[in-house]
Amino acid sequence: MKAAYLISYGQPDSLQYGEMPEPVLQENSLLVEVKAVSVNPVDWKVRKGVLKFIQGSKFPRIIGADFAGIVKESAPGKPGFKAGDRVYGAIPAFNTKPGALAEVAIADQKDVRLMPDWLSFEEAASLPIAALTATNGLRRCGVTKDMTVLVNGATGGVGHFGVQAAKAQGAHVTATCSEENTALASELGADLVFQYSGENMIPEGTQFDAILDAWGKMERKKIPQLLKPGGVYASPLLIPWTKIQALIARIRYGRKFTSSNMRKRPEDYNELETMMEQKKLKPVIENVFPLSQSSEAFNKAEYGKPRGKVIIKI
Ligand SMILES: NC(=O)c1ccc[n+]([C@@H]2O[C@H](COP(=O)([O-])OP(=O)(O)OC[C@H]3O[C@@H](n4cnc5c(N)ncnc54)[C@H](OP(=O)(O)O)[C@@H]3O)[C@@H](O)[C@H]2O)c1
Repeated sequence: MKAAYLISYGQPDSLQYGEMPEPVLQENSLLVEVKAVSVNPVDWKVRKGVLKFIQGSKFPRIIGADFAGIVKESAPGKPGFKAGDRVYGAIPAFNTKPGALAEVAIADQKDVRLMPDWLSFEEAASLPIAALTATNGLRRCGVTKDMTVLVNGATGGVGHFGVQAAKAQGAHVTATCSEENTALASELGADLVFQYSGENMIPEGTQFDAILDAWGKMERKKIPQLLKPGGVYASPLLIPWTKIQALIARIRYGRKFTSSNMRKRPEDYNELETMMEQKKLKPVIENVFPLSQSSEAFNKAEYGKPRGKVIIKI
């Protein structure tokens, strides 16, 4: 089968296109004819070797997490998929198993979900990691109707879902993005849009009930000033050592720092699908590459300031 696979850790050109053996069905798994894959930062971090201490240096290795496709073969198990089912999901990127950038991928049944028939493969593949991270961030912040929410990095993968999902909750949304993406942030539903650097930044003294830092690297000491007392900040990059900063924020400023890691329970996918069906959430897909140009897709995702999601079609 054709696949995109790493021949070493490194830059996008370490991702090659060519023949690889098809995976073999295992217990509780599915073989999926992959139709679309979306690129997430975790994929290019894997490509760079950030997880080398877990994944070792055995190559060639097919990578890629978010996918959508058609079941080719299913091992018996729950919930019981069958050949021909349209499915989507995310293959965990933190292990050594082959990923989704191939004509056929193997996925654990627990990581796969049936696709509603009104969803396209490209749309479905764009959702799991970024959208489930955004909705979990809003959940961790306790976002409800009429709350004021800042989404930082509002037009990237996580952020563009975050703006739409917060609006769907009835929140008042302020977005920060680069100047060229101001119009897109408004189209996504943001009530106010500022730049994350330059002239038009958030006016001093502005405070929010919640901050979804989709970019994840907001300067920690600025956060308490941007939050109302009791406000919550969520980041997808809140790694364990920052717990100490969270403690300081709580004790000294009465603000909460929390993590917005992806959560993928069935009810979380239900929430996404409901918002999409009600036309409250739509992926932005401006860059679609064929499998043979996966390296270019990774280049765009990492260095090309993509808006929304970068998709690889198979
Ligand atoms: N823990 C988890 O489960 C999880 C899940 C998903 C993502 N993540 C992490 O979350 C981060 C974002 O993921 P993503 O998919 O949204 O990435 P992305 O698609 O690359 O988007 C990043 C966004 O950050 C914006 N940005 C760049 N510099 C900024 C700055 N100085 N201030 C504010 N925003 C800035 C970019 O805007 P411009 O392009 O306009 O400059 C872009 O919109 C990544 O580090 C990723 O690894 C973690």
